[in-house]
Amino acid sequence: MEIIIQPNADSVCRYAARQIAELVKRKPDAVLGLATGSSPVRLYAELIRLHREEGLDFQRVTTFNLDEYVGLPPSHLSSYRHFMRVNLFDHLNLDPARTFVPPGLVAGEEIKEACEKYEEEIRLAGGIDLQILGIGSDGHIGFNEPSSSLASRTRIKTLTQRTRQDNAAFFKTAGEVPHHVITMGIGTIMEAKRILLLAFGESKAQAVSGCVEGPIGASLPASILQMHPRAAVLLDEGAAQNLRRREYYRWVFAHKPSGQA
Ligand code: GLP
Repeated sequence: MEIIIQPNADSVCRYAARQIAELVKRKPDAVLGLATGSSPVRLYAELIRLHREEGLDFQRVTTFNLDEYVGLPPSHLSSYRHFMRVNLFDHLNLDPARTFVPPGLVAGEEIKEACEKYEEEIRLAGGIDLQILGIGSDGHIGFNEPSSSLASRTRIKTLTQRTRQDNAAFFKTAGEVPHHVITMGIGTIMEAKRILLLAFGESKAQAVSGCVEGPIGASLPASILQMHPRAAVLLDEGAAQNLRRREYYRWVFAHKPSGQA
């Protein structure tokens, strides 16, 4: 696991955008796994800048989002499809047919089928080359809440009250936050070839220390990233403040041997 601590969220987002830009230049039909929430917003702004000012070309790129709220149509202002359109998709030259977000408008028997189809779409695209993740204050990734199977696949999940509260800012009222979501599973996320997790601010410090230095377990789903061969955790000072070995991580990053992945 690579731990990269930067002075602020802007420099983290510029670093993450550079990683994506290098991938897309090397592999124009790259498959990106994307996240929602406040953490990746500045990363998306930087990708838009790279597209506009430096001609970074997304025409052949495919994207898969991590999750979506059950019951919200794509046009709903708080749906993740809408979030992605406003914050990224509408500003790049992506082919809309290759921007996948789990379906929110599914019910009953359709759910399992829709989840299997999402997994199949990821497989058909050749798997995810680079997955962007945020982290919930309880250590969730995607919407895999504590106690989620570490081998899980795309499925319906029930949000904790804490996550519903954390995400209430994206809704008109707290009561409007759905209870159910469709999310890529932890097993699905772990198959991405490379993972970049972004976390900013003191409110994430506890989850980050569990993810990086705690035991691996379903009680803190992000801790599974310790098992991934190419996962990086990108932090600002606030999110890094509880890490016991943070000075070591800083030294490692500052002295990274050339050629090390
Ligand atoms: C939601 C999303 C997660 C995201 C988390 C943190 O739960 N489903 O993918 O990582 O929020 O959000 P934020 O970046 O706003 O703190």
